Amino acid sequence: MTSVPDILAKSASLNFAAELAALISSAALLRRDEPMARHTTLRVGGPADVYIEPASEADLAAVLKFCGAHKIKFFILGRGSNLLVRDAGFRGVVICLAQPMFSKIEINGERMIFGAGARLKHVAVEARRNGIAGMEFLEGIPGSVGGALRMNAGAMASATFDVVESVRVMDFAGEVREFVPNDMAVEYRSCATLKKYIALGAVLRGKPDSMVEIGQRMTAYSEKRWASQPAAPSAGCAFKNPPTIPAGRLIDEMGLKGTRVGGASVSQEHGNFIVNDGKATAQDVLDLIALLKAKVKAASGIELHTEVEIIGG
Ligand code: EPU
Repeated sequence: MTSVPDILAKSASLNFAAELAALISSAALLRRDEPMARHTTLRVGGPADVYIEPASEADLAAVLKFCGAHKIKFFILGRGSNLLVRDAGFRGVVICLAQPMFSKIEINGERMIFGAGARLKHVAVEARRNGIAGMEFLEGIPGSVGGALRMNAGAMASATFDVVESVRVMDFAGEVREFVPNDMAVEYRSCATLKKYIALGAVLRGKPDSMVEIGQRMTAYSEKRWASQPAAPSAGCAFKNPPTIPAGRLIDEMGLKGTRVGGASVSQEHGNFIVNDGKATAQDVLDLIALLKAKVKAASGIELHTEVEIIGG
């Protein structure tokens, strides 16, 4: 049965969606009750009240100002590859910089300028095409530049901020500015500064190298990834690596591969991946995370921390 507060929340979201639609350009996309399962690689998650793809920085600024003025929550979505949205969905506005304006790529010598919406695969491929080394590790990360900056995403012993020269951001009042990494709070798998600012794009810097050698490294990384990580829907690694042992090895050595809750299970290929067999709910994944944390803590004393970002509900 739908409760009175639910009905009131729904009618409030319909009202603010109409007001928001009037503030943004006709090229922007706005949908109500958008299932987030469609926008996450894990393929779970309930609806966002409002989902917007701005078509310009002016659209983005208008949405941010509106949310600020009306105290409406918002969330910046990348490619949803490190994200778990609860089944109840997200009460507020999900903003995704997926339109072409935010995905531009410009090469200037060893400097490469990428929009936040550009795919990491394209970053790696463009770097190779231009003989710029240092971006090979981004080749198989299924994310966007904005998401990689926010999470300081990494692979193959490299991380995003290793190659960042500067980041262009918008604050929540719609003002644009630029940061250099020294002015940003960056750590393993997180950039706290980008909780308060939205990355619009970044200048990445590599070193000149031959296309052949860059290509060989990309192939080697890709082979390693395919040999050790599952192809089934997942959100990448579920947990950060504890300082003493990789979480995947720990879970594997404890015999927990294959542990299942509903449609979610620990991958047989890699102990730090939770895969969706197609029928998982967000709650299955959350319950499996809690179960793994409890078992690992009880057996080893090690506290696992989720790497995947959890929102909604
Ligand atoms: N291992 C096992 N069993 C497993 C999984 C791993 O014994 O089931 C062992 C491996 O043999 C290896 C060690 O654990 O000796 C580490 O494994 P791996 O090389 O796969 O690296 P990882 O630390 O588990 C990290 C990143 C991945 C990234 C890979 C490849 C984290 C949390 N994970 O995984 O990033 O793709 O390196 O470079 O730092 C992600 O962030 O979502 C992610 C997938």
